Amino acid sequence: MTPSLLAGKTALVTGGVSGIGQAIGSLFAASGAKVIIADLSLPEREAPADCGVGPGWRCDVSDEASVAVLAERIARVEKKLDLLVNCAGVPQSATPIDTMTVDGWDRIMNVNVRSLFLTTKHFLPLLKTGGNAAIVNICSVVGVRPKAGLAAYSASKAAAIATTQSLALELAKDGIRVNGINPGATETPMLSGFTHGQQVHEVVGSFANQIPMGEIIRPNDVAGAALYLASDLARLVTGAVINVDGGRCV
Ligand SMILES: NC(=O)c1ccc[n+]([C@@H]2O[C@H](COP(=O)([O-])OP(=O)(O)OC[C@H]3O[C@@H](n4cnc5c(N)ncnc54)[C@H](O)[C@@H]3O)[C@@H](O)[C@H]2O)c1
Repeated sequence: MTPSLLAGKTALVTGGVSGIGQAIGSLFAASGAKVIIADLSLPEREAPADCGVGPGWRCDVSDEASVAVLAERIARVEKKLDLLVNCAGVPQSATPIDTMTVDGWDRIMNVNVRSLFLTTKHFLPLLKTGGNAAIVNICSVVGVRPKAGLAAYSASKAAAIATTQSLALELAKDGIRVNGINPGATETPMLSGFTHGQQVHEVVGSFANQIPMGEIIRPNDVAGAALYLASDLARLVTGAVINVDGGRCV
């Protein structure tokens, strides 16, 4: 680890209370960044919660009013935002398409895709201020290698990839890099959400069997790629989507 890789940078990590987002927040803080967490699971208060790595605010990233309030709160304290990591997401328990509800479809699309639009839109003024910002969107291997029963989730992640690449082109003139990461099956609480009520430890083996390198992805594996994309090591990398998947997408 390079403790100073993100020195002087302020980072907002959505979904930073659990799993991949928590690992990214911890690694960014250890690399010198000031980290702010936004997560639906935090309590709604006038003052931020202590998330260990930094202050945490309750925010529903699928809701424009909630994101706008968060942007106002952060703009009161921070002069600039250097890093935005869009990690909040929800899974889909394998669902035959004829039993999928419209509400279920919309929730997955709103949390996994609309959120990227809302956070980018509302934090753009702060991101532009520093002159050297980076956005990292956590997408998924199923955005390019869909799975049966996961139509909504796969569509949401394909849209997240396309959104990432379109924004990379649009925001290049502002010096803002926009990249994505496609994790393969990763050992987090979300993994059980793709099953029918099984616990994470019960399904790790079957997910690992689908990965050429034979190992489940760990949150820190994804955090390492996020650190690279967020840092100045990647200063001319934009529109890239890195697979952290043990070879599953090849
Ligand atoms: N775990 C996997 O196998 C895997 C694989 C590929 C991609 N991903 C993606 O990685 C990201 C992180 O997933 P994870 O595995 O760490 O899951 P997780 O369930 O451990 O963490 C997700 C976090 O997002 C938060 N969240 C959910 N809805 C929110 C909302 N509307 N507003 C704000 N916060 C919200 C949750 O409270 C939670 O803290 C997601 O985008 C997910 O789709 C996960």
